Amino acid sequence: MLSSRDISKVKKWAEEFNNKGYKAYGGTFSMAAKFGEITINCTTGAHSIEALTTAGADNLKGKILIDLANPLDFSKGMPPSLTVANTNSLGEEIQKMLPNTKVVKTLNTINAKLMVNPEILSGEHDLFICGNDKASKDWVKEELLTKSFGWTNIIDLGDITYSRAMEMYLILWVRLYNIMESPLFNIHIVKKT
Ligand SMILES: NC(=O)c1ccc[n+]([C@@H]2O[C@H](COP(=O)([O-])OP(=O)(O)OC[C@H]3O[C@@H](n4cnc5c(N)ncnc54)[C@H](OP(=O)(O)O)[C@@H]3O)[C@@H](O)[C@H]2O)c1
Repeated sequence: MLSSRDISKVKKWAEEFNNKGYKAYGGTFSMAAKFGEITINCTTGAHSIEALTTAGADNLKGKILIDLANPLDFSKGMPPSLTVANTNSLGEEIQKMLPNTKVVKTLNTINAKLMVNPEILSGEHDLFICGNDKASKDWVKEELLTKSFGWTNIIDLGDITYSRAMEMYLILWVRLYNIMESPLFNIHIVKKT
């Protein structure tokens, strides 16, 4: 289920997929939060708290919420800054507002096409993950990132406070995007053996 403030938009999206034989639904933020066993926050980071408030803490209770949003602030033009940084992050703010939800931060450091198809890039490249609940992180790593999407290099940074580093990387990402003239790139951490 894909959700939006404009239900007609996502209903049309669902219809297109259903016509191709898939089983898709369009709904409001609260309908999707209620419907999903696993939920994903892919809203504009500057408005994620607003969107998740509408989704409803009760609807997300006990569930994994994969947070891939970036708190980018474009209000002063390019390059963007972050609405929250240094000693706090969007991932932490979401975990604080949803204490009964298991927030797992991942996939925010790469383009959407790469998220689901890391093989677009030849050679090794890395994905980061963080969150407070180990079992939820393990599920996301194994079932979604490895088995479904094909990621092989996943670096678990630790608890949800490491969202700070993952989100602040976006400042570098935006600069690299301009230099590369493509969003299809990633980084690889190399350690002396
Ligand atoms: N696109 C990528 O390749 C990529 C990669 C990594 C991370 N991300 C992150 O993923 C998130 C979504 O990116 P996107 O490219 O998919 O952006 P997008 O197409 O602009 O999607 C924005 C989403 O945020 C919602 N939204 C916007 N303003 C809102 C508001 N005031 N209140 C409630 N909801 C609001 C929109 O809902 P409506 O449908 O109601 O407008 C829509 O669901 C961002 O945080 C981005 O940093 C994206």
